[in-house]
Amino acid sequence: MSEQHEIAVIGGDGVGPEVVAAELAVLEASGVPMSFTHYQAGDDCLEKTGQAMPEETVAGAKAAEAVVFGAAGKTAAEVILRLRAELGAWANLRPSKAYPGVDCLRPETDIMIVRENSEGLYCGEEGERGPGVATATRVISDAASYRIARYAFEYAQANDYSKVTAVHKVNVLRKTDTVFLEACRRAATEFPGMIYEEALVDSVAMRMVLEPAEFSVMVTTNLFGDILSDLAAGLIGGLGLCPSANVGDGPGLFEPVHGTAPDIAGQGKANPFAAIFCGAMLLKYLGHVPAGERVEQALTDCLAAGQATADLGGSLSTMGMAEAVIARMGQ
Ligand code: IPM
Ligand code: MN
Repeated sequence: MSEQHEIAVIGGDGVGPEVVAAELAVLEASGVPMSFTHYQAGDDCLEKTGQAMPEETVAGAKAAEAVVFGAAGKTAAEVILRLRAELGAWANLRPSKAYPGVDCLRPETDIMIVRENSEGLYCGEEGERGPGVATATRVISDAASYRIARYAFEYAQANDYSKVTAVHKVNVLRKTDTVFLEACRRAATEFPGMIYEEALVDSVAMRMVLEPAEFSVMVTTNLFGDILSDLAAGLIGGLGLCPSANVGDGPGLFEPVHGTAPDIAGQGKANPFAAIFCGAMLLKYLGHVPAGERVEQALTDCLAAGQATADLGGSLSTMGMAEAVIARMGQ
C-alpha cells in the first residue's frame, strides 16, 4: 500500500469549483491514495473574508504535496501569481495538442510551451516616470533562464521530442534577451542529441498559425509564454482543452489555462477536459505515470467518440464528462 498523497484544493471562482469537482472524481477513481483539503481564494473569498488570498490558503498549499486549482476571476493575478511565487513554481508547462473528434483550426498541432514562471515582465516592478508615463521592468537572469532552458531540454528528451525552440525578441530587447539566449545556448550544448533553434516571437506567432507542426517544445520568457499559450489554444479548439502544470522547488500547482466563464458558472455546463487533464498531469507528477496515462487516454477516447460538453458539440454535463472518463478508465 503506497502512502497517501496530501493534496490542497482551491476551486476558486466561477466554473472553477465545478471543473475541480469533476477532476477530483476522476482522481478518486484512479485508485491512487490521496486526501484532499479544500481552501478558499479568489473574488468570492475576497467578498467573504476581505482577502483574495488568505494566509491559511497559502500555508495549506505550501504544506501539501501538490495543489489542484480551478479558476480565479478579477483577483486572478493576486491569487495565481502569488501561489506560483510562494510554491517556487518556476516552470509553467502548457501543452496544446489537437484531439481527434474536436473540430479545430490546426489538427497537426502538438506543442509544449515551457514558460519561465518567476521573472520577466511579471516581476511586478512598475513605476511612473512622470505624469502620464508609466514603466514596467523586465527582469531576466542567467540563473532562471538556464534553469528553464534545461527543464525544456529535459522535458523534450523524456517525452521523445527532437527539437527545442527558444522564443525571444533580442532585436529589441537586446540586453534581457541576450541573457536569455546565452543561457539557452549553454543548456543546448548539454543536450547534443537535440535540435536547438532560436526564433523571434513575432515570427513564431505567425508560423504557429501557418505551420504549427514546425514546433514541438518551446522555451520562452514569462509574458511571451502567456501570449503564445493562448495562441496555441486557439489552434486546437480553445482554452477548454488546455491544462497547465506549474512546477519547481515546492509543491506542483495544476491549473486549467481557462478562466472563470461567469456566463455559464453554476449550471453544470463547463467543460472539465482541461481540469481533468490537469489531474492526469498531477498523477504523473506524483509518480503514478500509468494512472496518469490512463486518464489521458480515457479523455482522448471520450472526445474521439463525441463524448463531450456542449462547447465541443457534445451533450454531457460537467460531471457527466467525468463519469464518461471514469467509465473508460477501467477498460
Ligand atoms: C494565465 C493567466 C495569468 C497569467 C493571469 C490570470 C495572471 O493569464 O495563467 O495564463 O498571466 O499568467
Ligand atoms: Mn494567460
